[in-house]
Amino acid sequence: MTKKKLIAGNWKMNGNLASNEALLKALLQGGGSFECDVAVCTPAPYFAQVQALAAGTSLALGAQDVSAHASGAYTGEQSAAMLKDFGVRYAIVGHSERRQFHGETDDLVASKAAAALAAGITPIVCVGETLAQRDAGETEAVVKRQLAAVIHVNGHCISEIVVAYEPVWAIGTGKTATPQQAQSVHAVLRAQLHHAASAHAAGIRILYGGSMNAANAAELLAENDIDGGLIGGASLKAPDFLQIIAAAR
Ligand code: 13P
Repeated sequence: MTKKKLIAGNWKMNGNLASNEALLKALLQGGGSFECDVAVCTPAPYFAQVQALAAGTSLALGAQDVSAHASGAYTGEQSAAMLKDFGVRYAIVGHSERRQFHGETDDLVASKAAAALAAGITPIVCVGETLAQRDAGETEAVVKRQLAAVIHVNGHCISEIVVAYEPVWAIGTGKTATPQQAQSVHAVLRAQLHHAASAHAAGIRILYGGSMNAANAAELLAENDIDGGLIGGASLKAPDFLQIIAAAR
């Protein structure tokens, strides 16, 4: 299967005009052509800045969220069409921080994925279990339930999504899933995708996220069903992010 890996940085709510410029210039120093697909999912106020600085390079722009609605009285939200206006190629949906702090449900996440797809934006659908759920042996059931909602609403269009397995206990904690732990969940997700989108399942990229860094990226990315990474903290440091990109050929 020739499928390019995808390394996506999730800047979360970090950065400012000056630090973004320094980070992007360092990332693009080599000319901005990468062997794998690379994206940075930035805070919305900086889309225009990133779009301008990355113009003509293969660095793609991503959003961290998208509204499920097309337009109207939804204060504070951004529609997929607005993201598209700024050249956004990917939108993270259902990040655990949004599920946890903004009460996002599986159904809402599925609608957000649909809104992104309708605008030609690739949703990066996040799934993952908490530590309590893992300890209770519920990992498989939780991630399957989260992905099932997206499959149910999006049908055969799911061949166009990216999935990110992000165990909640590994996010920002320095505790990475072992390659074997991650691979076993990725295999479960792959099987579920296969059931829903048979011929296309092998082509759907399943990223790992959760304390992925320059030191552990290569062994995670060597697993069969790990097709890239969704990187938080390490994506804010150019040398680290570049090392992860280099590990993803
Ligand atoms: P960290 O890489 O900082 O653990 O964050 C992972 C994440 O949440 C990416 O979306």
